[in-house]
Amino acid sequence: MEKLPEITYEELDRLNTLIDNIYGSHFTGYSPASLKRRVSRIMQLHKLSVFELRDRLTNNPVFFQQFLKDVTVNVTEMFRDPAFYKTLKEEVIPYMESFPKIKVWHAGCSTGEELYSFAILFKEANLYHRSFFYGTDINADVLEQAKDGIYELQKMKINAENYTQTGAPNTLSDYYTAKYEAASIHHALKENVFFSTHNLVTDGVFNEFQLISCRNVLIYFNLELQLKVIDLFYQSLANFGFLCLGAKETLRNEDLKRFKIVDKKNRIYQKIA
Ligand SMILES: C[S@@+](CC[C@H](N)C(=O)[O-])C[C@H]1O[C@@H](n2cnc3c(N)ncnc32)[C@H](O)[C@@H]1O
Repeated sequence: MEKLPEITYEELDRLNTLIDNIYGSHFTGYSPASLKRRVSRIMQLHKLSVFELRDRLTNNPVFFQQFLKDVTVNVTEMFRDPAFYKTLKEEVIPYMESFPKIKVWHAGCSTGEELYSFAILFKEANLYHRSFFYGTDINADVLEQAKDGIYELQKMKINAENYTQTGAPNTLSDYYTAKYEAASIHHALKENVFFSTHNLVTDGVFNEFQLISCRNVLIYFNLELQLKVIDLFYQSLANFGFLCLGAKETLRNEDLKRFKIVDKKNRIYQKIA
């Protein structure tokens, strides 16, 4: 059987340096184990040795964009982890009423399903008209799909089930139009929505937010980068603003001096100092 190409940690380090030099820092601080897995898979897919991969990345910026897309995990869905959204609705959204203007940042928003899920809950709480949702990601391609807000109709089944489990007052189909095999999010949910690229490794604070959601992104980073990014979120939050992380992500004890735990299981925190 043909041996599948693999990359060693040393080669991965050298590849990172090459990418940093040509395209700017992208994967510095990513968890090496998951990066190694993803890069090995790309090498298998394109039948490339490490040498050939380095060559393509050096000489082919279009290939780099595809590489970036394949390295980052973009899996997402609407109302992912319904229990989280139920808690958001009960513990966080009512608090948002006290802010005259509400700015929400979805860092690592992928194709936008999470952002539109928040937008729906804000609409139902009658807060959407004074809320602004900023979706950012390192990957420009996923942001294009997020802007369009058009998803496979097939995927709406699981999204709708999730939504129902949050104790929803409506059905998810109230928020999109189905045409052939596609579901198009209603324009009313796109009015206060902005998408742009932002790299959590290299880019800084760009606004002050009442709520930041960065779910299922930090798991791909090493501890050092996680701490740096949490600090970025702290700096980007208004006083008493909220931070939401993914089911497998958590704040370290050190950070709990400046964040209060709102819901431990659902990883919701509030800036207190
Ligand atoms: C698994 S998705 C999470 C999507 C959504 N937040 C959710 O929980 O369903 C992770 C996203 O993080 C993005 N990402 C990875 N590294 C990033 C970085 N350095 N800066 C910004 N986004 C990044 C990926 O492109 C991907 O779209």
